[in-house]
Amino acid sequence: MSSSSVETASTTAAADRSLFRASQSRIERLRDRFHQIRNFTDALCAGLEPEDCVVQSMPDVSPTKWHLAHTTWFFETFILKKFVPGYRAEIPEYAYLFNSYYNAAGGMHRRDLRGLISRPTVSQAHRYRASVDSHIDDLLSNPDESLIDEMEAILVLGFHHEQQHQELLITDIKHVFAQNPLYPVFRAAARHSVRADERTATECRPYRFIDFEETVTAMGHDGDGFAYDNEGPRHRALVPAFSLATQPVTNGEFIAFIEDNGYSRPEFWLSLGWMTVNEQCWNAPLYWTKRDGAWWNFTLSGLRPVDQSEPLTHVSYFEADAYANWAGARLPTEFEWERAALSCPIEGNFVETELFHPVAAGSAVLADKPGKDERLHQMFGDVWEWTRSAYSPYPGYRAGPGALGEYNGKFMCNQYVLRGGSCATSRIHIRRTYRNFFQPEKRWQFTGIRLARDPQ
Ligand SMILES: [Fe+2]
Repeated sequence: MSSSSVETASTTAAADRSLFRASQSRIERLRDRFHQIRNFTDALCAGLEPEDCVVQSMPDVSPTKWHLAHTTWFFETFILKKFVPGYRAEIPEYAYLFNSYYNAAGGMHRRDLRGLISRPTVSQAHRYRASVDSHIDDLLSNPDESLIDEMEAILVLGFHHEQQHQELLITDIKHVFAQNPLYPVFRAAARHSVRADERTATECRPYRFIDFEETVTAMGHDGDGFAYDNEGPRHRALVPAFSLATQPVTNGEFIAFIEDNGYSRPEFWLSLGWMTVNEQCWNAPLYWTKRDGAWWNFTLSGLRPVDQSEPLTHVSYFEADAYANWAGARLPTEFEWERAALSCPIEGNFVETELFHPVAAGSAVLADKPGKDERLHQMFGDVWEWTRSAYSPYPGYRAGPGALGEYNGKFMCNQYVLRGGSCATSRIHIRRTYRNFFQPEKRWQFTGIRLARDPQ
């Protein structure tokens, strides 16, 4: 053997070792992330009793137990059954109970009846989680190299799916606890949350508008890292000149709308919104109640006086639109929002702060150069911001084949896009291009308002 062929052989062996190490570290990263996300779901439930975990307070709400099992079903159905030869589910009936809406994956139990299912118990649901986690661990300890690419894409989708359900678990348990006259506490208020009466006047400063010039810009995900299919294809869009408010609407600003009889003046409301307000007898955001002339607010830390400086939350699209009309403004389009967000860092009050409630912008930010602040605040975290854009496909969008193609595409009807994430969203889950969507009458998510307007 010549010295050059020895060199070639050793170079090839080194390259193989390096590829193997790269593949190993990739798998290790996936396994670490899998456990981190699964553990965070469990941590969210740490203070809950089994009785808390089985209640379904309205058809939109799922019991905590169902979230625990459904996210597990996702990994079992789309990873274990697909990538583990001969895998047999320990309890095949769970496939029917814990499929949510994937017709191509088989039949499913009725969504509005999830609260009637007492078996499996909460502890059996935890056992189901532990069993599937252990199978995923085995799979990632001995991966078939040829399947890693395909498996990784679905695993990462499973991570993001579970993070979506973490947010739902939080908003759902809030709705469950809100039905209870004892007002249970999900998490005691964090020590660094500032009391309303300790805030300075500068912190309650009203929003201002920042002007944006007309531009043609690229919209949608650029393909770098994970995104849902509904964030693409990336495409060019004309965004005419507009102005966007520096911060979300606060509780104090919304109280002015209430006190101006906003809920009983049809001139501000869409027809469907006006019908809904009257049918539902809405006169304030969800979770607000008036006691001795003062507004109180049910939070995940219990019942508290409404803090006027906090971002408003738990309003429907109808209320957001009516407020904007009353204020002489409008809601932004999702394209305006995304264009404005390009210059904003993705930072804010996310689920990782474990406050589980929107907070007023810090005094250091708002007190900085009063009157000259040209920045957008709280674009990310705190509250999802309703846009006036209908949730519809981007040009060239096609839903993928099979059950996972049902993830987003089939919901592109009768819903509105929300942007920016909330205090219940994970920081590592949100993106500038992220498109959340809900029907216009829904208000149990952490939904709020940022105003926009046309050039003056
Ligand atoms: Fe799901």
